[in-house]
Amino acid sequence: MAQKALQRCLQKGPSINRKKALVLRERRSSSSIETMTPKEILVTGGAGYIGSHTVLQLLQEGFRVVIVDSLDNSSEIAVERVAELAGDAGKNLAFHQIWDSECLNFVPHRFHAVIHFAGLKAVGESVQKPLLYYNNNLISTVVLLEVMAAHGCKNLVFSSSATVYGWPEQVPCTEEFPLSAANPYGQTKLIIEDICRDVRKSDSEWKIILLRYFNPVGAHPSGYIGEDPRGIPNNLMPYVQQVAVERRNALTVYGNDYNTKDGTGVRDYIHVVDLADGHIAALRKLFEDSGIGCEVYNLGTGKGTSVLEMVSAFEKASGKKIPLVMAGRRAGDAEIVYASTEKAERELSWRAKYGINEMCRDQWNWANKNPWGYGSPESQS
Ligand code: UFG
Repeated sequence: MAQKALQRCLQKGPSINRKKALVLRERRSSSSIETMTPKEILVTGGAGYIGSHTVLQLLQEGFRVVIVDSLDNSSEIAVERVAELAGDAGKNLAFHQIWDSECLNFVPHRFHAVIHFAGLKAVGESVQKPLLYYNNNLISTVVLLEVMAAHGCKNLVFSSSATVYGWPEQVPCTEEFPLSAANPYGQTKLIIEDICRDVRKSDSEWKIILLRYFNPVGAHPSGYIGEDPRGIPNNLMPYVQQVAVERRNALTVYGNDYNTKDGTGVRDYIHVVDLADGHIAALRKLFEDSGIGCEVYNLGTGKGTSVLEMVSAFEKASGKKIPLVMAGRRAGDAEIVYASTEKAERELSWRAKYGINEMCRDQWNWANKNPWGYGSPESQS
């Protein structure tokens, strides 16, 4: 299957959404930005939660962006809203709904860098369907790297995850900590990190930044874009938000017997706008630092917050009571995970600006304005 996909992407020219591509070319030819030669970035998975917030910031910073996204777990409405929020810079955004490695047909030499968000990310599903995760996350990344190399585009920012720290022996987690994976999803992140290191070792023209995200929450302050998971949310804040808008009855708290301040799990929640900002900082590093090879950075706040503290902050922000059901620990969950942010501060000149009150304020604003996300009661379970 991988071979076929590879052959397909190397042999065929761009095949999807010709109409949209045409619109893009027309818009571009009449744009004054042509003369300014802004950098052009390919964003895989750019219609998703973190992707859409990052694309908006890229546009606002003057980059041109081409999104490729299968829309399997995201919505084209997010792309439309990003373009609207970007105002005039929205004309520098193009979108292609594509899947598998067909996206690679869109990697011409003109891209200055790729931000690779696309991938499956549900921990529980990855345990049920490991081959789906290995196939989807690994093969597409390998093919992406091959085609980037073939086109001479060797600048990459990859979405890794704090999941690679497993159950850390101590906190805060520094980038040098030993790595482990508790599930196939985490394993794909570990393997892709290794692949990137090997690629760089083999060819010093590559510049790669691996960003280990902690727990992204919140939404754009406009309330116009945010997280919209399909089905029952796996993660804490999307679930809390659905309880607040009465789509779910109560939040199940997974474990209150951890060795933490109130017995519930502790995580490093980071505002998605700060996270998006971290990608801009990483891109600038790629473009401005000729000495960079394959580098890894944590993107977190450096602060640990318990489940109950997060719920309480959300209740304050929303004025809604979140009913709780206490349950046993969730398999594979760590007790306490939070980031050391020193390396990102030192080398990317980046640090998170927002705290949990702003995260909950913006999460609620998004939920209140879009109780059904980008869909409707009929389109959601
Ligand atoms: N939690 C609940 N109830 C829920 C959901 C979560 O009590 O319904 C608790 C968890 O037990 C944990 C905390 O809330 O203590 C955070 O859980 P999340 O599922 O929101 O986040 P995780 O830290 O488990 O995992 C997330 C992403 C992973 C990523 C990881 C990085 O899901 O993809 O952060 O640390 F790898």
